[in-house]
Amino acid sequence: MYTQLEQRGMAEPPVNISTLRQMKEDGEPIACLTAYDASYAALVDTAGVDLVLVGDSLGMVIQGHDTTVPVQVDDIVYHARAVARGLRRAFLVADMPFMSYRSPEQALDNAVRLMQEGGAMMIKLEGGEDQVEIVEHLTRHDVPVCAHLGLKPQSVHKIGGFRVQGREPDQARAMVDSARRLQDAGADIVLLECVPNEVGLATTKALEVPVIGIGAGPHVDGQILVLYDILNITSGRTPRFVKNFQQGHDSPLAAIESYVQAVKDSSYPAPEHCFS
Ligand code: KIV
Repeated sequence: MYTQLEQRGMAEPPVNISTLRQMKEDGEPIACLTAYDASYAALVDTAGVDLVLVGDSLGMVIQGHDTTVPVQVDDIVYHARAVARGLRRAFLVADMPFMSYRSPEQALDNAVRLMQEGGAMMIKLEGGEDQVEIVEHLTRHDVPVCAHLGLKPQSVHKIGGFRVQGREPDQARAMVDSARRLQDAGADIVLLECVPNEVGLATTKALEVPVIGIGAGPHVDGQILVLYDILNITSGRTPRFVKNFQQGHDSPLAAIESYVQAVKDSSYPAPEHCFS
């Protein structure tokens, strides 16, 4: 009864929160990627990605906006539902869009939509001290949470651009403290975007839950990138932490497999992808 019918007899059991925690304990890097549709989700899953995020980056890479701000809950639900159909093993996380978690009640209502309609197993929100109460509320209702710290793209208009965060020592200390408070409030994963290597290391050491980095250096528990960036589909300037994995590979599957391999053997991120 505790095994989903279609998963009985699967060679590899689906990834869950315990798997991810165990990977942190064992020092096995967690390979994560975004996906937005069923076809790519199936490829990403086949390649051995452990965690798939239906990110609000879809506002930029799918919808063509300049930022993630215009993305709606309905958009995430639509794409998460498609991605869920493509996955067998990977753990599915879905983003809470801008202004969809202004109060604990609104956050819960929208998180329930992402889980029940979208098939997400965890929701991600861009957080700090102000989100502690929201994370506590979601946790009390058994909603798994990933808290996104560092560069928070939904705040781009407030912070004035996509910039490395946590370079000042007091900023870095505050970030590690926030991560600890969010973990204590119930966050199951912390995601760190665009921070110096030392902030990635300090946060990873301070927390029991897995820390996933994007531009957070090599010392975190796992890496995530935007799928279209690693496939070199994104046009224009890409951030320093992006690596084109399509180069030297003749199919998207081979490119994604080489990304997973590089995360697992810690050859990605290399120094040129990191911030100091
Ligand atoms: O929206 C997104 O895809 C993300 C990743 C960049 C981590 O938040």
